[in-house]
Amino acid sequence: MNFKSLIRDVPDFPKEGVIFKDITLLLQNPKALKETANALYKLLEGQKIDKVVGMESRGFIFGPILAKKLNAGFVPVRKPGKLPSKTLSETYDLEYGTDTLEIHIDGIEKGDRVLIHDDVLATGGTAKATCRLIEKLGGEIVQLNFLIELTFLEGGSKINNYPVKSLVKY
Ligand code: PRP
Ligand code: MG
Repeated sequence: MNFKSLIRDVPDFPKEGVIFKDITLLLQNPKALKETANALYKLLEGQKIDKVVGMESRGFIFGPILAKKLNAGFVPVRKPGKLPSKTLSETYDLEYGTDTLEIHIDGIEKGDRVLIHDDVLATGGTAKATCRLIEKLGGEIVQLNFLIELTFLEGGSKINNYPVKSLVKY
């Protein structure tokens, strides 16, 4: 399937000068939704996974679908103040300012084999912070997979010590 044909460029969203990669056409197409999930699943090549970690909010779309296919659990990484129980936080630098992500401390057990999934790899800040959260809890990162990788932002260089795969590259 030609995934790119269902990924729409939206200029100047969410702010001027940014070309937003919109996946809603792909999500609303029954065949594309199924084939995207299957293709992301195939990137694992049969490796055993205990937990899929997805980042709020667009990592929550395919994350749980992948977890179900892999017979794994799903663990959300969320923006601050959203998770109700005891959390671990990781703050990372943005171009201007910082951002923080949180995970439940009981979301990952020592030795858990983890797949990290998100819709887009851009600068890699989100993905790297998520890797740190998982490793602090003793998880083993088996792979990070993304629907879209914006290679010109070189986010892959922040996580080049892990296996990183993406379905579509720009
Ligand atoms: C987008 C995207 C990734 C992240 C990638 O999320 O869904 O999670 O940015 O960027 P990075 O590689 O530069 O860290 P966003 O923060 O826009 O939030 P959303 O998923 O809630 O829409
Ligand atoms: Mg996101």
